[in-house]
Amino acid sequence: MIKDKVVIITGASSGIGEATAKLLASKGAKVVLGARRADKLKRIVDEIANDGGQAAYKELDVTKQPDNDAIVELARKTFGRVDVMFLNAGLMPISPLSALKTDDWHQMVDVNVKGVLNGVAAVLPEFLALKSGHIIATSSVAGLKAYPNGAVYGGTKWFVRDFMEVLRMESAMEGTNIRTATIYPAAINTELLETISDEGTAAAMQNTYDKYGISPDRIAHVVAFAIDAPEDTTINEFTVGPANQPW
Ligand SMILES: NC(=O)c1ccc[n+]([C@@H]2O[C@H](COP(=O)([O-])OP(=O)(O)OC[C@H]3O[C@@H](n4cnc5c(N)ncnc54)[C@H](OP(=O)(O)O)[C@@H]3O)[C@@H](O)[C@H]2O)c1
Repeated sequence: MIKDKVVIITGASSGIGEATAKLLASKGAKVVLGARRADKLKRIVDEIANDGGQAAYKELDVTKQPDNDAIVELARKTFGRVDVMFLNAGLMPISPLSALKTDDWHQMVDVNVKGVLNGVAAVLPEFLALKSGHIIATSSVAGLKAYPNGAVYGGTKWFVRDFMEVLRMESAMEGTNIRTATIYPAAINTELLETISDEGTAAAMQNTYDKYGISPDRIAHVVAFAIDAPEDTTINEFTVGPANQPW
């Protein structure tokens, strides 16, 4: 059931997060949106409200634990509880290792790895107390196999895969009823390529996305499907991409 579920979405100011927020709200979920660009979040929340949905937002930098705690608190205060945490915020400044873009390496670890840890640390106490909950994370096809230029990005997304699988296993072993879902998208048309600082890599990726990219709405439907599954059922992994992309 999606209706009336309280869903926190990180990285909700554009792309996959925005599309998911709008779709879930249209199905009756109460969505709480977080990202750094508050102006964009406000616009999306207004659009959802104009369409008859329920939404709130908070400026969130996932690298900061207090920000993650605060958005969970906002959801609790505004809508009474938290049912789903969609850990979706991410960056993809890929490049060859030889370019030595060490700032980009560290930023990807901070956002794509530590951001996930911070989000889980913020919401897990609520889920353990309720003995229910759903944690959904956006990995990548780069979390399933190695790609040149993606050593660090892929590493962060492999981390998400391992972390989410252990979370699933431990939740089952501890009887906490926490469901998990990890999503592995291929080329999805969002703002993600704007995070690439290496010019050659950016141009090559743009060509790939121009050729294959599909709408972030496709991922939103997968998230909705996972949430809509019966409460005793975890649909754990989804690999989703353009039908014509070999990825
Ligand atoms: N698009 C693809 O082809 C693709 C493929 C595989 C995986 N993914 C993954 O999908 C997820 C969503 O990306 P997208 O494709 O939708 O790209 P996007 O449009 O660039 O969205 C990324 C989101 O993450 C947020 N974000 C970045 N740094 C943040 C931080 N420190 N704190 C909070 N929010 C932060 C951004 O918002 P602010 O800038 O406002 O903070 C934005 O809302 C990412 O994890 C990405 O790795 C995407």
